[in-house]
Amino acid sequence: MITHFIFHSKKQLKKGKHVLPLRTSRHTMHKDILQILVTESEIAQLAQKLGQKINEDYHDKHPILIGLLKGCVPFLSDLSRHIDLKVDMAYMSVSSYHGGIKSSGDVNIKMDLDISVHGRHVLIVEDIVDTGNTIVTIVELLKHRGALSVEIVTLLDKPEGRTKPYVPKYVGKTIPKLFVVGYGLDYEEYYRNLPYVGVLKPEVYSTKEND
Ligand code: IMP
Repeated sequence: MITHFIFHSKKQLKKGKHVLPLRTSRHTMHKDILQILVTESEIAQLAQKLGQKINEDYHDKHPILIGLLKGCVPFLSDLSRHIDLKVDMAYMSVSSYHGGIKSSGDVNIKMDLDISVHGRHVLIVEDIVDTGNTIVTIVELLKHRGALSVEIVTLLDKPEGRTKPYVPKYVGKTIPKLFVVGYGLDYEEYYRNLPYVGVLKPEVYSTKEND
């Protein structure tokens, strides 16, 4: 077996020629952030806790994890590594925000599943539940397609934003009704790659959207 080692000399490290992750405050996008709401380390703890709970609840099952693109990507990636079960992983792309900060209320399926949910236990992986429109629509659709059970695991929940009643089974953290970005969540497609969840400075929004 060949093992590869990467060595960084002190000189390389001093020059910044290394592969360590950027520190939170060194991200150039950090200047647009008013307040960090969920730190990197808290996110890591939440993913671990949720993974353990899912392992207990589904210990005798092989669920399908369905990630709702694009926001689910970092969370699904971290969460799935704490899930010690045989799972299928599939993706759907749905949109209800059309790039802004207010939900349009319509849910469009932009990319559908490539796997049947008939007779399967489904766990939808979401970044955030706000109005509940997206999740209620997708849950109804998957049940209609014959899923045995459909539950949600979401990193964040904004229950004050609900226009449709829905209580997600697995919630990482409940947050106030604020527009947040980072760790998969975007504003006009940017900020998804921030390693934490934060509140965007109001001056970053366009005037039109604040009306
Ligand atoms: P809902 O249909 O209103 O529950 O919204 C669900 C989707 O809207 C999430 O999967 C996100 O893509 C998006 N969303 C909701 N709240 C926020 C936010 O605060 N920041 C960024 N995207 C959000």
